[in-house]
Amino acid sequence: MAASSSTQTSGRTQVGIVGAGPAGLFLAHLLRRQGIDCVVLESRSRAEIEDTIRAGVLEQWVVDLMNQMGLGDRMMREGHFHSGITLRFNGESHHIDMAGLTGGKRVTVYAQHEVIRDLVAALLEDGGEIVFGVSDVQLHGVESDRPSIAFRRMPDGPLEALRCDYIAGCDGFHGPSRQAIPKSVRNEFQVVYPFGWLGILTEAPPSHPELIYSNHERGFALLSTRSPEVQRLYIQCDPKDDIANWSDDRIWSELHARLEDRDGWTLTEGPVFQKGIIAMRSFVCEPMRHGRLFLAGDAAHIVPPTGAKGLNLAVADVLVLSRALAAFYKSGRTDGLEAYSAVCLRRVWKAERFSWYMTTMLHRNPAETPFEQRVHLADLDYVVSSQAAMTALAENYVGLPMD
Ligand code: FAD
Ligand code: DHB
Repeated sequence: MAASSSTQTSGRTQVGIVGAGPAGLFLAHLLRRQGIDCVVLESRSRAEIEDTIRAGVLEQWVVDLMNQMGLGDRMMREGHFHSGITLRFNGESHHIDMAGLTGGKRVTVYAQHEVIRDLVAALLEDGGEIVFGVSDVQLHGVESDRPSIAFRRMPDGPLEALRCDYIAGCDGFHGPSRQAIPKSVRNEFQVVYPFGWLGILTEAPPSHPELIYSNHERGFALLSTRSPEVQRLYIQCDPKDDIANWSDDRIWSELHARLEDRDGWTLTEGPVFQKGIIAMRSFVCEPMRHGRLFLAGDAAHIVPPTGAKGLNLAVADVLVLSRALAAFYKSGRTDGLEAYSAVCLRRVWKAERFSWYMTTMLHRNPAETPFEQRVHLADLDYVVSSQAAMTALAENYVGLPMD
């Protein structure tokens, strides 16, 4: 379908990008470095995308990529570099030496909204174009060689059309891009978990030098950090629960019960200034390309957060896409574009497997049998007692190689 005749044509670009999350912003930077023109259309305001609290953990290669792109200065000053994580179960803590097991790769804790702030500022400073607050976004002609994106700059403004060579659908799980692939072409795979995460930000000093992932009979808990003054903590909860049912006292009491062990270590409390509940799912859409539309990041796949993979996977997709587009614009080669979906999905399914594995092993699922719950504890015991199993966990957690 072509853009309708009542649509004003607002412009033309080589790659139209829908969504200014990690996928859309990294793609814009990568393309501009190759001399490829692009425009990013984002439905929320700059303040909203810069203040949404989400992920925290960056894989080593993403940190290296940000540094190579000249986008890593603040991350290197303010990020937290951990050489290991702690797994806790049956009342005991076990240190996993990620760096020692992976030839020196570390875990970097630097909040997603800080990455977004750095990428937005650098893109605008460099003359890149992001249109914030767009509405009524519709993708047209993705099966033709003249695709376009219709949108309004203001809620009651005219419908404009951005004509492009290619469209990158980087608009997250609920965006319109995936729906532009006909249902008959899409193959979707999904697991919805019967639990969610209640996450808080608290004004407190770090309680522990590294992240703690805890499997406890009362449910999973995770201790993470943000800065010397702010800590990030999560507990497993009913995904349909109302946050109003969770007083700060109740949250702290669960965190103490699930995180503290027999060695006398204690969690430091502080005022809670942000809290919310998220549901958890695994989801993959195949293929990730249809005609001239390329899906990237959460638009194509979702992982439960336990493996800390979602943001990293979004960056991996757009790195593959930017290389394929660069080959096309430099030498007319289309093999990279044709292979995009298959190349990405190999990594996606490994991250799906790891995220599902970490989630099922570390959470208490009321629908599981006591047999299955014992198997998860045996799995944890195996991981901390076998060098081979520990290495497998570590190499997935710090990030599988990109090339
Ligand atoms: P998004 O970040 O969802 O960005 C999509 C953008 O598109 C948004 O800005 C949205 O406003 C915009 N958009 C939507 N609809 C439209 C439209 N119609 N028109 C224009 N724009 C539109 N991942 C990790 O790697 N490590 C972690 O430690 C981690 N922890 C997490 C913890 C939590 C609590 C949560 C919720 C997630 C976590 N994740 C983690 C996952 C990570 O946040 C996501 O995978 C990541 O944000 C995906 O990036 P994206 O750019 O694909 O999508
Ligand atoms: C954080 C989020 C995760 O999903 C995770 O596995 C580890 C840390 C965080 O927000 O800090």
